[in-house]
Amino acid sequence: MPKITVARVSDLAPGEARLVQAGGRAIALFRRDEGWYAIDNACPHRGGSLADGDVEGFVVTCPLHASQFDIRTGALISPPAQSPVRAYRVAVTGDDVQIDL
Ligand code: FES
Repeated sequence: MPKITVARVSDLAPGEARLVQAGGRAIALFRRDEGWYAIDNACPHRGGSLADGDVEGFVVTCPLHASQFDIRTGALISPPAQSPVRAYRVAVTGDDVQIDL
């Protein structure tokens, strides 16, 4: 599948996140000191926007009812959500931040 450029490196400072669109999907893109991470934006519980969640370490907390997911893998860490979210590989090429669909 193609790599899609969704942001510039300079668009996000470490610790920031934003909602991006790639291949018709809404994806939460996170920049951490350790690198870039991307997961499906919609929380599987009731659709909360994970790009708007607080992030501590590699754990994002859904802003609606506080489900938690690992931004590296999409794994569910705590309910009320009952399933994980999809995670995507992120590549940085020059100033382009690309999501590998
Ligand atoms: S919508 Fe995310 S925990 Fe409810």
